[in-house]
Amino acid sequence: MYFCPMSEYILGIESSCDDTSVAVLQNRKILANVTANQQIHAEYGGVVPELASRAHQQNIVPVVEAALSQAQIKVQNLSAIAFTSGPGLLGSLLVGTSFAKSLALALQIPLIEVNHMQAHVLAHLIDHKNQKTPSFPFLCLTVSGGHTQIVQVNNPYDLKILGETLDDAAGEAFDKAAKIMGLPYPGGPLIDQLAQQGNGQAFTFARPSMTGYNYSFSGLKTNFLYFLQKEMKQNPNFIQENKQDLCASLQGTIIAVLMEKLEAAAQATGIKHIALAGGVSANSGLRKALKARESSLGWETYLPNFEFCTDNGAMIAITGYYKYLKQDFAGLSFSASARKKLALGH
Ligand code: KG4
Ligand code: ZN
Repeated sequence: MYFCPMSEYILGIESSCDDTSVAVLQNRKILANVTANQQIHAEYGGVVPELASRAHQQNIVPVVEAALSQAQIKVQNLSAIAFTSGPGLLGSLLVGTSFAKSLALALQIPLIEVNHMQAHVLAHLIDHKNQKTPSFPFLCLTVSGGHTQIVQVNNPYDLKILGETLDDAAGEAFDKAAKIMGLPYPGGPLIDQLAQQGNGQAFTFARPSMTGYNYSFSGLKTNFLYFLQKEMKQNPNFIQENKQDLCASLQGTIIAVLMEKLEAAAQATGIKHIALAGGVSANSGLRKALKARESSLGWETYLPNFEFCTDNGAMIAITGYYKYLKQDFAGLSFSASARKKLALGH
């Protein structure tokens, strides 16, 4: 038994998309972070909301039990329950929300609602192994399957969106391009692997120019589709024969677009502490591109540990911990919301 009465123990529950993930934190330190992935969606080429919420219902009790047991913590020792309140798939969010409310009510401990996008950013504040904690203010490029944002983080409670995607997210661009090439879902990690054996200069794709620090990836996807359709008319094996080069060129374009706006935001704000967050921050090319700016632009960069890139309970628990310190609690009538905005400084 690991209990220390001077510490706060926060249970974090993430269920916004297709991962049921639960973590236990002792203050900022991880005791457990357990995730059940849902393989079922691969058969359909994308996340099926109804199947996702059903799988969350099946997974949530065993995953919570596994996290508590790994943390060697009794449920009675928890200080608060934090849960993802949005954005995400409503049916999936409701499973985590209802479970969190019931547990908080049964244990008579505070309930804390957490914004998923704030949590991706605050994952950097988790005290774990060799992960470096950024100092404030820092800029965070959050790139996931549903979102692409440049966020200025003044402190854990004051996050300001400087720019975001106006249509597809960066992860969506990876996944949709992979689907066009006939690769299974989620395509991002596969494109990353194939790109490592390809030539990024082999093909050129459209780079949309948006105002300010905003992004747009839908034009790139369409450009990629039309390009392949044209080439396949002449050579039906075009994709098969050029898979690595296609992946490297596509990935290179996405990274170039992401980095251009990030560099502009860093220059305008004068901030040189730069972090990556979200599922796409696992991308090896993007991690390399960020690291390269340490010598070329004098940036101090922060790459999350791989387990904190994609959706995880630990990022919900760390955000819950900071909200706990401020006694920012949710009532039992609080409801999840599919389209939640990242709260601006409060
Ligand atoms: O943050 P996340 O787990 O879920 C959302 O909140 O969306 O991000 C999932 C996204 C997917 O689009 C997936 O293809 C992408 O992250 N992804 C990657 C890599 N690993 C995950 N994209 C590119 N390269 C990777 N290595
Ligand atoms: Zn996410």
